[in-house]
Amino acid sequence: SGIEMLGDMIAEARTIVPFTGAGISTECGIPDFRSPGGLWTRNRPIPFDEFVASQEARDESWRRRFAMESSLAAARPGRGHRALASLYKAGKVPAIVTQNIDNLHQASGFSAEHVVELHGNTTYARCIGCGTRFEIAWVKERFDPKGIAPSCTACGEPVKSATISFGQSMPEEEMRRATELAQHCDLFLAIGSSLVVWPAAGFPVLARNCGARLVIINNEPTDQDDIADLVIRYDIGETLGPFVRN
Ligand code: OAD
Ligand code: ZN
Repeated sequence: SGIEMLGDMIAEARTIVPFTGAGISTECGIPDFRSPGGLWTRNRPIPFDEFVASQEARDESWRRRFAMESSLAAARPGRGHRALASLYKAGKVPAIVTQNIDNLHQASGFSAEHVVELHGNTTYARCIGCGTRFEIAWVKERFDPKGIAPSCTACGEPVKSATISFGQSMPEEEMRRATELAQHCDLFLAIGSSLVVWPAAGFPVLARNCGARLVIINNEPTDQDDIADLVIRYDIGETLGPFVRN
């Protein structure tokens, strides 16, 4: 079966780099983007230039963020997160590359310095002008009375969830580290991503081109199934559950 083949490939690999998308967190109660019921099927994304230009867009963006607060706060790592953390503890995974912003890889046991977050993290906020960090609770206290998004106390520029929006530049250091990881692994696991958002979706291609085996685990077809060595079109928790070690 696919799971047995995956087990063999993991056993044979020396350096495994997992690359995750929103599908690994759906069993934790966090919706993905493009499945039925996904975030982008309900709301249009707010591009970065709109967030910068319009107070209304900022208010809407924070309304959406606070609507997710209870599910984000309650979310615990799922079987996929725990299996990857087990491979990390076993020394096979030097670091993980993720498009996710939910902090669940850190919560599953990855040290923060070994989680390369291509699209940032929504468990805190930053000023888009000077980069000062603000806690979500700080933003909420100021947002709640009138539903107006607060500005930076240091420079007056807008405060934004520390995530990357469409049209916002990618984080340089994270791009560099993900490139290096993709180039130097022998097994690359693309898990729970539709692989349609670039430049993130370039990493499975890069790993494959640099000689790694590519495995795609996703319950729907992805844009890169045709270049994969193994495609497991099945539930992530069910597929990775057997690899959880306590
Ligand atoms: P998508 O929503 O595009 O893809 C998630 C994939 O996971 C879908 O193909 C689902 O079918 C699959 N999936 C969901 N639950 C699953 C399960 N339990 N088992 C197996 N497969 C499952 O999410 P991403 O690829 O992560 O970026 O999206 C990429 C980027 O687009 C995000 O990082 C975000 C978004 O816009 C920005 O906002 C910049
Ligand atoms: Zn500032």
